[in-house]
Amino acid sequence: VMVFRNQELKPEGFLRFSKYFGELEVHVLDQYLHSEYPEILIVSNVLEDDRNIGIPDAGLYWHTDLSYMAAPSRGSILYAIEVPKSNGRTLGNTIWASTAAAYEALTIDTKRQISGMKATFSLSGRFEKVAEDEKADTELTIDQGNRAPDVIHPVVRTHPVTNRKCIFVNELHTSDIVGLPQAESRALLAELQEHTIQTEFVYRHSWLPGDVVMWDNVATQHIAMHDYSLPQRRLMHRTT
Ligand code: OGA
Ligand code: MN
Repeated sequence: VMVFRNQELKPEGFLRFSKYFGELEVHVLDQYLHSEYPEILIVSNVLEDDRNIGIPDAGLYWHTDLSYMAAPSRGSILYAIEVPKSNGRTLGNTIWASTAAAYEALTIDTKRQISGMKATFSLSGRFEKVAEDEKADTELTIDQGNRAPDVIHPVVRTHPVTNRKCIFVNELHTSDIVGLPQAESRALLAELQEHTIQTEFVYRHSWLPGDVVMWDNVATQHIAMHDYSLPQRRLMHRTT
């Protein structure tokens, strides 16, 4: 996770910077794309004409971005434009956990147990999960669901640059472990999740407007704190 403070970026500059690192994804939730620059996803709780201008429920649970796609995102960049505050305290923090450090701290038995295991990742499962939450927005359209069918990924991925092994299953997008009875699968996923997010593996970011935070979606997973609501405004631009 890298943090660059005090940036002033127009969409063109943000896109130019993002494209230095690879081809950009156009997010499947097209109702939240920037109207002129579809490679920018708006992350926001702001309403205009009663409509959410961006995705209001991003990161309600631990996840890595686009892990429900056949080709998950290599990295993501968030640019903070408006950050909610209350009595001088910044709200809407984001927390990242090192999936590499978490993997390395597993017991040898667990490493052996999960070696070679595969899991199902699901965008529609993500929608079912957040539907209960009061911050949840709209549903997935049939067309969007068709563009992101469930996929299978390994439970542990090897980082393409560092060769470190990383826990890849996550709370929001992983629905089950292939070949395990449901109760066992749920218990193992919960155990891995709880292990991954221990304090010694996490960095918590308190945002300032102008922050650009860029992260590796193999070596980390993240969650957003939804501890604010209108009239406290939060507005971010995201590329993946
Ligand atoms: C995201 C996300 C976290 C945040 O945009 O991928 O998880 O703090 N956002 O907005
Ligand atoms: Mn995210």
